[in-house]
Amino acid sequence: MRAVVLVGGHGTRLRPLTLDTPKQMLPIVGRPMIEHVVGHLASHGITEVVLSLGFLPNAFTDAYPDGRCAGLPLHYAVEPEPLDTAGAIGFAATHAGIHDTFLVLNGDVLTGLDVTALVATHRRTGAEGTIALTPVEDPSRYGVVPTDDDGRVLGFIEKPAPGDAPTNRINAGTYVLEPSVLGRIDPGRRVSVERDVFPAMAAEGTLYAVVSDAYWIDTGTPETYLQANLDLLDDPGGSVVAEDASVAPGASVVGYVVMAGASIGENALVEDSIVGSGARVGASSQVVGLSVLGAGAVVADGERVDGVRRPEVT
Ligand code: GDD
Ligand code: MG
Repeated sequence: MRAVVLVGGHGTRLRPLTLDTPKQMLPIVGRPMIEHVVGHLASHGITEVVLSLGFLPNAFTDAYPDGRCAGLPLHYAVEPEPLDTAGAIGFAATHAGIHDTFLVLNGDVLTGLDVTALVATHRRTGAEGTIALTPVEDPSRYGVVPTDDDGRVLGFIEKPAPGDAPTNRINAGTYVLEPSVLGRIDPGRRVSVERDVFPAMAAEGTLYAVVSDAYWIDTGTPETYLQANLDLLDDPGGSVVAEDASVAPGASVVGYVVMAGASIGENALVEDSIVGSGARVGASSQVVGLSVLGAGAVVADGERVDGVRRPEVT
């Protein structure tokens, strides 16, 4: 089976980290996020990944020039313009010549989901589409998906107002789809799978869902990006420092990510924050409160930044 992996978004919530690096190429404990995602697919017998590219496609094609990533061959499908999630699925599937049952993934999700079992359920029910669900505390940030007892999807509500969600089970961003779904997507224009395609399929009763309690995180915000790194370390008080980053003596470090080529000065405190590649944190400075330093950003000696994004983003 082939998988279309959506990696074409602008990653706005992670700016400035994503001004020059697509979200799925940011490191998660030493390896680009996409390698974790593709590696998981390889372990479930997926044979090829179709990368649905839009924003900064060269970051991917340059990183994998021989078209292989985490053991799988890649097919690159570069959108001429952002087509939104369903438009991107339609473009990529057509580009790659997909005519059989296929998988779709949001490329910014890290999960231990049993993809093999999801596919098996899809085949058993004969659904047109089957989506994985995961329970979360605050469903309002996600696609909320009520089902009946047989797993038939009753509706699909993308990012409801807080308090309006009928269930805390949300779209986990992995779908098994029949090629007939492609016929529901007008080519060449923006179409949302969450706001257009899935609500229509739910209304017709052709969409099913499977609830999973596997590990799951959407890495799309500074808080969850940091959390994903610490989760993979499996050390709540840990920190992730790139091999070629430098941390001076006396610097204090708790729960943070420091990317390639960054430096932390003597007696600096970095806590619960992200230091982008090549950023420089001065001596005796403090970087705290989910601060995000972009590539090459500088914190002066003795300066304190708390909950700041540098450079500032609008
Ligand atoms: N190729 C392409 N083109 N990819 C896109 C586009 C586009 O126009 N827009 C977004 N993407 C990619 C992003 O790069 C990301 O990998 C994925 O599609 C999902 O986009 P996000 O921007 O991360 O969406 P979200 O996190 O707000 O919500 C989505 O994910 C949630 C679970 O993590 C929705 O699918 C929700 O329903 C879901 O609950
Ligand atoms: Mg996301």
